[in-house]
Amino acid sequence: MCADRVRSRIGRARDEEIGQDFHHSEESKRMFRWQCGSGPRRVAGLVVAGFLLTFLFSIRAQAGFGYVFVQCVFKAHHSLDDYTKSGAEYGSVSAIVEGADKGWASIDFPTDKATRHNYTRSYDILLAPYQHTAKNVLELGIKKGGSIKLWREYFDAGAFIYGMDIDHGCPTFPRDGHIKSIFLDTNNREDVLKAVGDIRFDVIVDDGCHTNLCIWKSFNTLFPLLQPHGLYLVEDYPKYFLYTLEKYFHKNSSNQFYIVGDRADEEVLLAILPPSSWALQPEVTRKMSWKLVKPIGGEA
Ligand SMILES: C[S@@+](CC[C@H](N)C(=O)[O-])C[C@H]1O[C@@H](n2cnc3c(N)ncnc32)[C@H](O)[C@@H]1O
Repeated sequence: MCADRVRSRIGRARDEEIGQDFHHSEESKRMFRWQCGSGPRRVAGLVVAGFLLTFLFSIRAQAGFGYVFVQCVFKAHHSLDDYTKSGAEYGSVSAIVEGADKGWASIDFPTDKATRHNYTRSYDILLAPYQHTAKNVLELGIKKGGSIKLWREYFDAGAFIYGMDIDHGCPTFPRDGHIKSIFLDTNNREDVLKAVGDIRFDVIVDDGCHTNLCIWKSFNTLFPLLQPHGLYLVEDYPKYFLYTLEKYFHKNSSNQFYIVGDRADEEVLLAILPPSSWALQPEVTRKMSWKLVKPIGGEA
């Protein structure tokens, strides 16, 4: 086919001339190389073109590998290293996430709190009493740093946002002095207590290890470091472990345990409230759709 194209280009040339003089001339070699390429090169060209088209299409559709790649590698990572609190004022957690580019790979807030889960709707209600009052907020599980940024945007400028993660590759937010990334295993009580020192938290969100034993260990270490008016949240708690709540978490406890349903069917959000938690205010409780867990051997 290529030879035909070359033939038509040279127009009046005779077949014998193409096979001999023209075929062996430098000009013909250049034309063949330019127009036809070699077999493997042509295949490689088609593959690259295919990738490029898929890549551009997925960026346009804001889905798929291309989009995730651009968001994660170029934009999300870059924006996290450079991040400082924006100074914008937000009325709710949802407003921040909805105002940002959506999705777990979002440029602005790479988190699954409003995609796979719908926790942000509950957080709008539960966190409202803390938005302008919290001094120290802790989240277990930093991952891509999206939720740490989310908290930094949501709470007042004076609040400190602490993130704990076992993975030293998680973001550190070097430009924002009110965000502290702490690298440790939250199973390790001694390390956690040493890192926290005399800090007491207004809100703790456990979105870390997600295994029952680890959630329980982290809770035992960190719940006593919660302010009496505080709120302790456990994300992605598996429904099939709910029976253990009464047995372990709630034993002899005067705290209130609530189960909040989630759009991810097999998991729930746990809200654990000390008796004087601000999340027990009527403005919160009448808006929340949640289920109280009764402690074993006592009235809820
Ligand atoms: C679900 S991700 C956190 C997502 C993040 N909070 C967000 O909303 O974007 C869970 C994180 O917990 C961390 N993790 C798992 N086990 C841990 C442990 N034992 N101690 C501390 N961090 C742990 C993982 O490294 C991972 O980054």
